[in-house]
Amino acid sequence: MSADVLLASPSASFAEGQYNRSNARLHGARKVGHTVQGGVTKAETSASVPASAFSIAPMMEYTTVHFRAFARILTRRALLYTEMEVDQTLIHNAAYRDRYLPFPADQHSVALQLGGSDPASMRRAAAYAAPFGYDEVNLNAGCPSETVAGKGCFGAALMRQPLLVAELCTSMREGLASAVLPGAPVPEVTVKHRLGVDDSDSYAELRDFIGTVSERGSVSRFIVHGRIALLNGISPADNRSIPPLRPGWVAALRRDFPHLSFDYNGGLSTATEVARARADGPLAGAGFMIGRAAYARPWDCLSNADVAVFGEDAPSVPSRRVAIERYAEYCDDVERLAADDGELAPNPRVLVKPVLNLFHGERGCGNWKRSSDYLLRQAKLRASNADSTTPRTSDLLHAMMRVIDDDVLDAPPPPASFSGNDDDEEEEDSDSDSPMRSSMMTLPGSATSRAGLGDGVRVVVSGRRRRKKAQIVYENGGEEEEEGEEEGKNLKASAAA
Ligand SMILES: Cc1cc2nc3c(=O)[nH]c(=O)nc-3n(C[C@H](O)[C@H](O)[C@H](O)COP(=O)(O)O)c2cc1C
Repeated sequence: MSADVLLASPSASFAEGQYNRSNARLHGARKVGHTVQGGVTKAETSASVPASAFSIAPMMEYTTVHFRAFARILTRRALLYTEMEVDQTLIHNAAYRDRYLPFPADQHSVALQLGGSDPASMRRAAAYAAPFGYDEVNLNAGCPSETVAGKGCFGAALMRQPLLVAELCTSMREGLASAVLPGAPVPEVTVKHRLGVDDSDSYAELRDFIGTVSERGSVSRFIVHGRIALLNGISPADNRSIPPLRPGWVAALRRDFPHLSFDYNGGLSTATEVARARADGPLAGAGFMIGRAAYARPWDCLSNADVAVFGEDAPSVPSRRVAIERYAEYCDDVERLAADDGELAPNPRVLVKPVLNLFHGERGCGNWKRSSDYLLRQAKLRASNADSTTPRTSDLLHAMMRVIDDDVLDAPPPPASFSGNDDDEEEEDSDSDSPMRSSMMTLPGSATSRAGLGDGVRVVVSGRRRRKKAQIVYENGGEEEEEGEEEGKNLKASAAA
């Protein structure tokens, strides 16, 4: 993997031919067809499956350029979202822009997420981002964080003002059009949002939101986190687990707005689940986004995506050993570039962080993390000693690999097929118990009313052998995924570490 354009000027990175023009076409493609082979509908060939068929969610402090580099090693095809970048930061901090907006040429397709609520500021922020060649620019209308939503109308609070959202999208598009490099297409502007916010939680309000934003803001693709946001009183982590998931509402949006695209987000864990959901049911052929699981269990989640979802013949990497080797090369590139430019290289801890969960649930996972901590401390000590040479991050990664058994290092990605049941994951995700299926069995009967949505609750335990997964399934079509919440805590813990 090359990081030649990391920290390069926008024009330099574009001049090196990084822009993937075909991608804009793929994003805009209407996804049709309901019979799916290996995640590819009959109306699609592998080459025409849009990157947005499977995307990795924007996650503050997680989907950094380095995590995206690692994710790109695991899947050549998935769409990668950045962390949210706040408009004011981009406008007022040139050093921040130079540090955080560039990305390697081989990282496409990448979507930049912007946060803000002032159309003029969003126009300026989008213009600053335009020359970097993002494939899509997304407006955050779903984040419930106090630091975001609390500042007036921002993040999920924007859902209460669809006209403003439409204006923001128009402004972002104008800003992008004013500053893309000559010959480059204007990236598509999309919106990531919730089903509603606080007591603005009816399907009718959601439908009005989509109608206004699509018509007045010319937005044709929406990424829907399939639960409402509660802005008063519960934490962002609780906001990702307590409000019930309602994938049926996203299916209803597809039915009500057949000319628009909707990607579903919330509660999914693996590319295999995505392939299955694309294959059948009310969300067949839709795009799907995964957040927490992509970070907490990158191998299970991502490594078979190219085959399972995109219909490629082979996965991007044959084993975790190869993935680490490639990521080590990336780290070498990053450190060499920094040295060439006379800049400080990223802290090795920052570079190692994306691979820490690579062996989640595997033999040796604890040793892998402990050895990384030990080696990083040693490296820090050596760095502070003028007489010794500082090891490269790739040296640390190679040393860490020694604590993992060869059979684990060389094991292939999970099978991409989802018809058999001879695999733990397959059993865990068995059709009858999957969160998507359980929820879809209770779709809102009418696209315009909530009638028939009861408040009954039942518990479904799925997964027969390895990792039982308990879900509280609301009869109204949502579920609280307890394991997902656990992952959220793990993410926090690893962030604190
Ligand atoms: C640590 C963390 C940070 C997040 N940051 C953002 C963000 O910056 N922008 C955004 O739209 N959503 C953000 N989210 C929400 C995710 O994009 C996603 O919508 C949510 O996690 C539900 O998907 P999942 O169930 O697949 O994790 C964040 C989630 C987590 C766990």
